[in-house]
Amino acid sequence: MAATGGVTTARGGATSSGGATTETGGIMTTTGGTTTATAPGGQGGGLGASVAQGGSGGLGGNVAQSGSGGRSASVAQGGSAGRSASAAQGGTSGQGGVVAGAGAGGQGIRDAAVLDAGPVTPTGPGPVQTPAYNGLRGQDFNSGWRFNRGDVTGAQNVDFDDSTWRGLSVPHDWSIELAFNQKSPAGSGGGYADGGIGWYRKTFTLDQTYSGKKILIEFDGVYMNSQVWINGTSLGTRPYGYSSIEYDLTPYVSLGSTGNVIAVRVNNNQPTSRWYSGSGIYRNVWLTVVNPVHVTNSGVFVTTPTVSSSSATVSVSTEVQNQSTSSQSVTVTTTISDPGGASVATNTNPASDIGADSTATVSQSLTVPNPQLWSTTSPSRYQVKVEVKVGGATVDTYLTPLGIRTASFSATGGFSLNGQTTKLRGVCMHHDLGALGSAINYRAIERQVEIMKAMGVNAIRTSHNPPAPELLDICDRQGILVMDEAFDCWETQKVSNDYHLYFKQWAQTDLQALVRRDRNHPSVIMWSVGNEIPSPTTSTATNLKNWVLAVDTTRPVTWASVNTSNATNQSVAAVFDLQGYNYSEGRYDQDHSAHSSWKLFGSETSSAVRSRGIYHTPATQKILTSSDTQCSSYDNSVVSWGSSAESSYKNDVNRSFIAGQFIWTGFDYIGEPTPYGWPAKSSYFGIVDTAGFPKDIYYFYQSRWTTTPMVHVLPHWNWSTGTTVTVFVYSNCDSVELFLNGVSQGSKTLASGAVHLEWNVAWASGTVRAEGKRGDAVVVSEEVKTAGAAAKVALSADRSIISADGKDLVFVTADIQDADGILVPTAATALSFSVSGPGEIVGVDNGNAIDTSSYKGTTRNAFSGKALAIVKSTGAAGQIAVTASSSGLTSGSISLSAQAREP
Ligand code: GAL
Repeated sequence: MAATGGVTTARGGATSSGGATTETGGIMTTTGGTTTATAPGGQGGGLGASVAQGGSGGLGGNVAQSGSGGRSASVAQGGSAGRSASAAQGGTSGQGGVVAGAGAGGQGIRDAAVLDAGPVTPTGPGPVQTPAYNGLRGQDFNSGWRFNRGDVTGAQNVDFDDSTWRGLSVPHDWSIELAFNQKSPAGSGGGYADGGIGWYRKTFTLDQTYSGKKILIEFDGVYMNSQVWINGTSLGTRPYGYSSIEYDLTPYVSLGSTGNVIAVRVNNNQPTSRWYSGSGIYRNVWLTVVNPVHVTNSGVFVTTPTVSSSSATVSVSTEVQNQSTSSQSVTVTTTISDPGGASVATNTNPASDIGADSTATVSQSLTVPNPQLWSTTSPSRYQVKVEVKVGGATVDTYLTPLGIRTASFSATGGFSLNGQTTKLRGVCMHHDLGALGSAINYRAIERQVEIMKAMGVNAIRTSHNPPAPELLDICDRQGILVMDEAFDCWETQKVSNDYHLYFKQWAQTDLQALVRRDRNHPSVIMWSVGNEIPSPTTSTATNLKNWVLAVDTTRPVTWASVNTSNATNQSVAAVFDLQGYNYSEGRYDQDHSAHSSWKLFGSETSSAVRSRGIYHTPATQKILTSSDTQCSSYDNSVVSWGSSAESSYKNDVNRSFIAGQFIWTGFDYIGEPTPYGWPAKSSYFGIVDTAGFPKDIYYFYQSRWTTTPMVHVLPHWNWSTGTTVTVFVYSNCDSVELFLNGVSQGSKTLASGAVHLEWNVAWASGTVRAEGKRGDAVVVSEEVKTAGAAAKVALSADRSIISADGKDLVFVTADIQDADGILVPTAATALSFSVSGPGEIVGVDNGNAIDTSSYKGTTRNAFSGKALAIVKSTGAAGQIAVTASSSGLTSGSISLSAQAREP
C-alpha cells in the first residue's frame, strides 16, 4: 500500500486495509565523457601491491525489510514514505525494486527502515557484484576453485591431485560453515568460530592472445597469513588478512591449452582478531591482463585542489610503468565524465619517454565547470578515465571514481562538507555480514548501508581494519562518509596472534596499500591508523602518519583513542590531525579548553546493548544482564565504559566543536557477545541485529537524525492484566498523543528537550496507538496490537526482482503472525525454509545472539517473532518461490523474479 496524502492515513497492519508497502530506490550510474586542461609531466616511483577502486552496475533496488504485523504506521504527508521500506536517497537514475510483502491475504506491513524516499521505479534487477577494481581492469576470477580444510603437504605443486577437494566459488568463508565451538581458540571475541588452515587451488588456462602481456592476480582479501604459489613457485605471503594483494603471474604461466595451477594456503591461527574474522579467500579475486606499458596498481591519484560552485580543478597523477625491454614514447589522455555520463574535461599530456623497466608519473590538471558537488544528500559521482597511449594506440584504460567536494575539520566548528557544517552521524561497523559470515557480497553490504542510511546515518567507521573495496563504492553512491581504519594494534598485542606479530615488517606496506587503494573515493574523509592502541609511541605514530602522507596529503590522519588524560597518549595525539575519542565524552570540555587546536570527534561511543523485542524492567533502571541472556531494549542496558544511546547523543549534539560520533555499533556482529559468554556468540551492541532487523533504538536515532515525520512505540503489547507498562515513544514530531483502545493517555511534547516520551499505562489487551503532531496536525501514527496465538507465517522480501547473475541476493523475512496478521512478538517458532526455481538459500538468521544453530542451514527458530532467509540467484533467470513452514501454522510463501542483468 503506498502512502497517500491528506491527513493521517492508516497503513497496513492487521486490518483489512493492510497490505504490503512499497518503496523506492535510487542509486546513480555514471560513464564517460571532454574539455580543458594542461599537463606538466613528472617522475615518480612505483609502489607495491594492492588493489583499487570500486565500480559497479548502478542499479538501485531498495530495502524493504522486516515486516511486522501488529504494528502499523501511517503517514499524512503528501505522498512521502512512512515507516516502511528504505531506499537510497537523492539518487537519480537508480532502479528501485519493489517488494511484495505479506503472507496470505496481503496482510502484514513493513515498518522497518525508512527514508526520505524518492520516486518509485518498480522495475529492474538489482545491482550487485562490482565488475572489478584497480581501474576496473580486472576479470572475475572467483569461480572454479577447489578447497580443502586442513593442512596438506605438496598442495602447491602442479601435479597434486585435488580431485577430492570441494569445488566452490569465492568469496568463501569456511568459519561460518562450521559448528560454533565453545572451546574454539577464537574465544568469545571471535564468536566461538574456528579458523585453522585451509587450501585453495584453481586450474585455469590463459588465452594465447595474452602473449607479451602482463598477467596479474589481485586478491581483495584473504584471511589470513596467505601464501600463494603459481605452478609450484611461491609468489609470496601476506600476513594481514584485511589487505588487498597483487601478484605478477607473468613469468610463471603458460598460454594456450596448458593448464596453470594457482594454490593458496591460508592460516587463521586464532585468536587473530578481537571479533569474528572469517577464514579463507573471503573477498573477490581478479585477473588483470595489461600491456607492458600500463598504469600501476592503484596508480591513478585524483584530487580536487580547488572547488567552487563555478569551477573545480582536478589533479590527476598517473603512474605509468614500462615493463617492456625498450624505452617508449607515452602519452596519457585523461577524460572526466559527469554523473550523467557526459564528457566535461579532457587533457592529453605531451609525449614523454619512459625507459625500459621504469615508472614515470604523469601529472595533469583539468577543470570541471559548474561542478555538481558530492555530498551526503546528493552524492554526484564523476568518473575519471585515463588512457595510456604508445605511438597513438591505447595500451591501457584505467577508470577511477571522482567526487568533487571539500571536507574540513576545525577545532571549534567540527566537520564541514562543501562549506556546510555537518555532524558526523556515524556508526562503527565490523565487516561480517551476519549469516553470510565475512564472505563479501555486494548486495549484502549495500543492504546494510541502506538500512543505516534510512536511520539517518551519514558516516561509517570501518572498525578496525581495511574494508572490502565494495563498501567504499557503495558509500560513494549513497553519500556516506567513511573513516577508513587500518589497525587495531601496533607493536603490542591485544590477542596473542593478532597483527602485532607482523606490524614492524608490514605496517608500511599494508597502510600504504590501503590508502592507495581507497584514496579516490569521495566518501573517505579521514584515515585512522589505529584503534585504542596499547603502548603507543610518538615515533610509531609519526611513521604511520608520514606513510599516509607519502601517498595522500589531502585527508587528515587520526586514531581512535581512549584515556587522553594519560601523558603518553597526549603526546601521541599531538602527532595526529584529528583526535578520535573512544568513550571519553566526559573529557570533551576540558580537553577542548586544554588543547584549543585539537579537532575532536567521538570515534567510538555508547556501547549500549540490547536484544530485539526484549524488555527488562524497570525501564528507568540500568540492567546490564538478566537470566534470559538477553539485553533490554529500553536503552537501559549499558556496559560499564559506555553510555546509553540517549546520553551519547546528548554529549555530542550540544557541542558544536565535536565533529560528531561513531556509535558502537550500527549492526550486530559475530563475536564479542558482551556482557555474556557461551552460548552467546554474537554482539548485543548493534542498533540493528545480525539479520538486519532494527531494534527499537533504531527509531531513537531515526527520530533525532531524520526529518520525515515518524513515530515509534515500544514495547510490544502482549502483557498480562495487572501490569503497568512503561511505554516509550520515539518521534521527531512536536508532540505525541498516546491512545489505548481509543482512549487518550495524554499528549506529551518533545519541545522541552526530551529525546523520548514516556507513559505508564495499565495494560489491557488491544491497541496502543501513538499519533505524532506537527503543530496541531496529526502527521504520522503507529499502532501496536496484542497478538493472539501464532497461526501463520508471513513472508516479505527486500526486493521482488533480482539479477540472475549467480550473486544477487534477496532477503526474505518470515513473521510469525496470529490469525489476524498481527506479529506474535514472543514467538520462537521453528521454521523450515525451502526454495524452488533459480535460487538457493545461503543463510538463515533471527538476530538472536544466543542461537548457536548453523547460519548455513534451512531451518531457524524465530526470535521475537521473526526470522530471515537469504536467497541467492543461481545464475539462471526465472521465478523463485520461497516458502517457510512450521508445524501447526499456515505456511508462508513469496515469489520473486530473477532477471538477466541489463547490459
Ligand atoms: C571498544 C573497542 C571495540 C569494542 C568495544 C566494545 O573499546 O574499540 O572494538 O571492543 O570496545 O564496547
